[in-house]
Amino acid sequence: MILSIESSCDDSAIAITDIKTKKLLFHKKISQELEHSVYGGVVPELAARLHAEALPKILEECRPYFKDLKAVAVTSTPGLAVTLVEGVTMAKAISIVLDIPLIGVNHLIGHIYSLFIEKDTVFPLSVLLVSGGHTQVMEVKSLEEIETVATSMDDSFGESFDKVAKMMGLGYPGGPLIEELAKDGDRKKHNFTIPLSQSPLIAFSYSGLKNAVRLAIEKADKEDYKDIAASFEYIATAHLTQKLKKYFKTTKPKTFAIVGGASANLYLRSQIEELLKPYNSELLLSELKYCSDNAAMIGRVAIEMYEKKMFSNLDTLISSPKSSL
Ligand code: KG4
Ligand code: ZN
Repeated sequence: MILSIESSCDDSAIAITDIKTKKLLFHKKISQELEHSVYGGVVPELAARLHAEALPKILEECRPYFKDLKAVAVTSTPGLAVTLVEGVTMAKAISIVLDIPLIGVNHLIGHIYSLFIEKDTVFPLSVLLVSGGHTQVMEVKSLEEIETVATSMDDSFGESFDKVAKMMGLGYPGGPLIEELAKDGDRKKHNFTIPLSQSPLIAFSYSGLKNAVRLAIEKADKEDYKDIAASFEYIATAHLTQKLKKYFKTTKPKTFAIVGGASANLYLRSQIEELLKPYNSELLLSELKYCSDNAAMIGRVAIEMYEKKMFSNLDTLISSPKSSL
């Protein structure tokens, strides 16, 4: 079995995964959403302190599995430096005490493997990753052959939902709150511009849209917020589908997937489904509970890395906040 730890942002999670059967034997996550909600976003130092409290509590529940552990895995990049280090330090301690190898896992690869929890992998695959930190399209041939073909130039898709929610005083995380509010709104009420629609670039940008939404909010009454939320979600999603359509002109994916926290958005899912129809592509989605950050996806990557003996050096594995992959 492998014990895996996730602490890259505001979720403290630990999983135990069976290496041979890929079965998830244990998974527990303690989210900090409530604590950060009053600030309208994640406060890194507060998040680090909450990880330091939550992770040992969850680890205590894993004690019965300790004797069967063959490796310990941990998200090592990308994420918040002060929170990554909480998980990495714990993983190193477990590696030393139980004398088992340490596996440093890239969080973005974790999101890709959230598709394959308790399942076999399906490659090649084109993936849209939409999370709080990233908006990117990746072509995945295998664990070691992942190419990023489009990325965000500024704010990410999820982050733009968080910021719009903050401007409306709704709380954090903004994604589910905006999605809920948008359900009763008129998507065509506010005529926001689709970002980069005239640009041949296959890239994503949300800061301009965010500023346009800010101006609309400043002029609006609270009753108009639902229409602003709906119009924002409509344009934010149209930006993704427009750029994907461009990408599909050169690469027609047999299998396409959406992963990351924001892939839980049902409007986005429906629009991508619609987009894929003419291409006869299969759409892969993670189970809703594994879209947002979790340790089960880190454990799933770690199985592959364990089998390939992709171990990390105890002295050199440091948490590194930035990685495009
Ligand atoms: O993957 P994730 O849990 O953490 C990162 O790796 O960043 O993604 C969190 C992000 C947040 O920005 C959150 O607002 C967004 O995903 N999100 C959503 C939805 N659920 C979560 N965005 C849009 N619609 C949703 N339903
Ligand atoms: Zn994530």
